[in-house]
Formats: sequence, C-alpha cells, structure tokens
Amino acid sequence: RIVVLDFGAQYRQLIARRVREAHVYCEVLPAATPAAEVLARNPRGIIFSGGPASVYAPGAPRPDPELYRSGVPILGICYGLQVMAYQFGGRVEAAGQREYGGRKLEVRDWSDLFAGLEASGPLEVWMSHGDHVVEPPQGFEVIASTEAAPVAAVRHRERPLYGVQFHPEVSHTPQGTAVIRNFLYRVCGVHGLWQMSTFLENQVEALRRRIGQERVVLGLSGGVDSSVTAALLDRAVGDRLTCIFVDHGLLREGEVEEVREAFAFLGDRLVVVDARERFLAGLEGVVDPEEKRRRIGNAFIRVFEEEARKLGPVRFLAQGTLYPDVIESGDPGQAGGPAPAASVIKSHHNVGGLPADMAMELVEPLRELFKDEVRELARELGLPQRLIGRHPFPGPGLAVRILGPVEPQSLQIVRRADAIVREELERAGLHDEVWQAFAVLTPLRTVGVMGDGRTYGYLVAVRAVTSVDGMTADWARLPHPVLERMASRITGEIAEVNRVVYDITSKPPGTIEWE
Ligand code: XMP
Repeated sequence: RIVVLDFGAQYRQLIARRVREAHVYCEVLPAATPAAEVLARNPRGIIFSGGPASVYAPGAPRPDPELYRSGVPILGICYGLQVMAYQFGGRVEAAGQREYGGRKLEVRDWSDLFAGLEASGPLEVWMSHGDHVVEPPQGFEVIASTEAAPVAAVRHRERPLYGVQFHPEVSHTPQGTAVIRNFLYRVCGVHGLWQMSTFLENQVEALRRRIGQERVVLGLSGGVDSSVTAALLDRAVGDRLTCIFVDHGLLREGEVEEVREAFAFLGDRLVVVDARERFLAGLEGVVDPEEKRRRIGNAFIRVFEEEARKLGPVRFLAQGTLYPDVIESGDPGQAGGPAPAASVIKSHHNVGGLPADMAMELVEPLRELFKDEVRELARELGLPQRLIGRHPFPGPGLAVRILGPVEPQSLQIVRRADAIVREELERAGLHDEVWQAFAVLTPLRTVGVMGDGRTYGYLVAVRAVTSVDGMTADWARLPHPVLERMASRITGEIAEVNRVVYDITSKPPGTIEWE
C-alpha cells in the first residue's frame, strides 16, 4: 500500500485517486502522523501532498523526519517538496508572485520519475504555489526545471527521495498520471489490483450491512450522482428504498418530465414533490450565494423529512455526494483524524447546508469518488448511456446562476437562456466534448439598439468548460458559429436580454459556476 500524508492540499484526494487509478491501494493520513505509526502500516511508498502553508509559517505542518531514514521511497509534491527541502537544509523562498497555470518543464534526467516520457517533448505541467525552492538541499540533484522555478523536480543522490514543484495529480498536467505511475511502479516497485468492480461489490455489501432491515430514502435529482446512488441502493436493499424527487423550481427546462420518464420503473417508490413556491418564498431577497445554498439545503432536507415521515419510520437518508463536494466544502471528516481542512471555497448544499438537527442518518456511498469514477461505476451498473453522459448540474440549480435575487422573472430568463445554450450545443454535436455548458444571468443592464429604438436590457454570460473531474477546468474553445447562434437566439428570443458575453476564465483562478 501507499500512504499519502495530507498537508491540507486542495488536491490531496486527487493524489489518492491517481494512485487508485494505477490500481494500488492507498490511504490518506494526517501530515504529522509519527513515523512509527506510518511505518506500522508497511507502506511501499509515501507521498507528501501539497498544502496552503509556507514552511516558515508558525505551526506549518511537518512530517516526522524519521521517515527519511526509513528507506521507504518518498515523493513530495509542491509543499511536500518544500518541506522536504527545508528539513534537509535547502532554501525555500516566496516566489514573488503566486505562480499558477501551465508551464513547460525542462527535464534533465529521463530516468525513473520521467521514464518513457521523452517522446512527449517538453512536458506541460500545472503550477500552483506561492513559495518555491531556490537551492536544492544537500544531497539532492535537480532533475527538472521551468523558467520561473529552477528547482521543479529533485532527487536525492543516495536515498529514494523525490520532490516535484508542479502538480502531477491534476488533469492539466497531461503526463502527471504517468509521473505518479513511474513513482509507484519504478521507484516503489508496487503493482496493484484495486478496481471499480471491487468498489461496487464492497459498496453493495457495506450498504446491506449498514442498512440491514431499515428503510432508506434517497433524494433523486435526475443527475448521474443520485441515479447511481439509486441503482446502488436498489441493488443492495431493493424494496426498502424510496426515491423522492423534489421539484424546487430551480430546475432546467423539461427536467421534471425527463426524471418521471427515466425512473418510471420505480413505480410508487418514486415520489415527486412540487415544492416550487416554498423554495421561491424562502429565497426572497437573498443575494449572497452561500446564503442561497444554505437556505436551499435546509429546505431540501425539511422537504425530505416531511415526505419521509409520511412513509412511516425511515432511518436513513441517502445522497449522491461526491468527493469534490466534500473537499470544496472543507469537510474534514474524510482524511481520517485531525487533518487540516482544505480552505473552504463553496459550501455545496449537499454537505455544508445540512441542518444540525436532521433526524435521519446520512448514507453517502459515492463520497470517495470523482465524477469520472461515478460514470465508470454507472457503466458497471448498466445504466443507460444517455444518463451517464449528462452534464453535472448543481444541487441549488438555477439559483446560483442568477447573480442577485431569485425571482420568477429572472428564473424564467435564465432557464430559457440555458435551454438555448444546451440546444445549440447538442445541435452542433458538441455535448460530449464539454463538461458543462450553461447561461448565467447578471444583474447588469447595458444599452443596446433594436429596430429604431434604444434598449436597456440584461447581460447574459455563456459559460462552457472542459474538465475531467470539476476540480480544475478550462474554458471550451467553442466554434464561433455555435457561439453566434447562441447569442443571436438568446437576444432574439428573450426580450429582456440585449447582450451576451462568453466567459474565457479557467479554474483556477475562476470556478465553474459564477456563484
Ligand atoms: P465550481 O463552481 O465550484 O463547480 O467550480 C464545480 C462543480 O460543482 C458543481 N457545483 C455544485 N454542485 N451543489 C452541487 O451539488 C452546489 O452548490 C454546487 N456548486 C457548484 C458545478 O456545477 C461544477 O460541476
């Protein structure tokens, strides 16, 4: 097995996931776990994650230096490299300006970490750091550099210790998986057998054990996540599952009908609740995105509770929460113990907004998975491709795509604009090329001209991104004719809108949604 020491990185679980993709079992432990405890697990290799701290900051997490003497191979990533360099007496400094984005890596040594990658030319790597190592510590040699970071990858001359300043775990480092595999296979000498089919069997078994003869209710949204959760639970506990679909009025055009159709086989185990007015009333005058999420999250759970109560005693509430939802809400429950939580970015409603007095126990079988893993699981479960390929849609729905208060009129505008964006994307055959594509309604009004008259209408932004897991993303290079059709239809068919812009921000520094 491999142990990942968690220094509080935004990307910590991505590392674990890359290791799992290489079919090697892996466990995440807090940064300061004593060497004896780490070594008691018999790891074949250790990876230090990145982290937000500076090595000189008071209380900055440090690994037990005993680990360096254990002979177990270590790979430090970003902060993991810096802390290793620091502990070996190297010089770490603030890089002047925070560096993030794609960089070209000049590799000096194509053995071990970079073995087999020569043919790919200069490697494209993703940087995201404030500090960097300016001088390699004693005993280390530099094996790769970039223009801004001369010490971008190092290796100890005698011991199996490696460090990289870039992030091999994110999808924007195209050869990153290969670098991690090289560490696992070549340096640590492990080969493993971890697979999605094993995950499926284990989860079904675990759900059976946990739920026993009790009943479970699931919030179905029509998206991949909750559908997979439903299929998993259906397999595990069959009749003891009831699915509740809440129409909160923040859904896309045609969605309620689609869900009714797709899950018709559930018969009366599918309950559709019309709660549109209740959610709208609860959102009146709310502008702050986190407040919107909190209110929607609370209302959601309340509606479930009311509906579930009608079913008689139900002990469990299932949700299709994914790992990115967990990590971006800064939920510390995952890394096992008092690991530093990743900085809170957005409290996704299905995690951050849970009321403290909720009367049901949560079941979240997908909590460890990323979106593409869920799609793989969906295939494993035999779900239809149409459903598997669906773009993700946020739980709080269109509410976080209206900057400003959610009102019947703004909802109507954004819903129509969204439908146009999706229709045109579909028509161009580009649906599967992008991760998400949607419209955002801004409260900005701009001057326009229509016929002979001046208009003063709303500004709609179109956003389309490519991504592998939602953690990082790039704006989609949609063909101009497609953008043109979207813009002319939106301004032509929605009277209140007279201007359309296209969002060309990547994540980071932006997020996918605007709120
Ligand atoms: P961001 O905007 O954080 O989005 O880059 C990453 C992914 O998460 C979705 N998202 C949400 N999903 N509840 C959800 O269930 C939310 O509050 C929420 N906010 C964002 C987003 O659509 C993207 O796929």
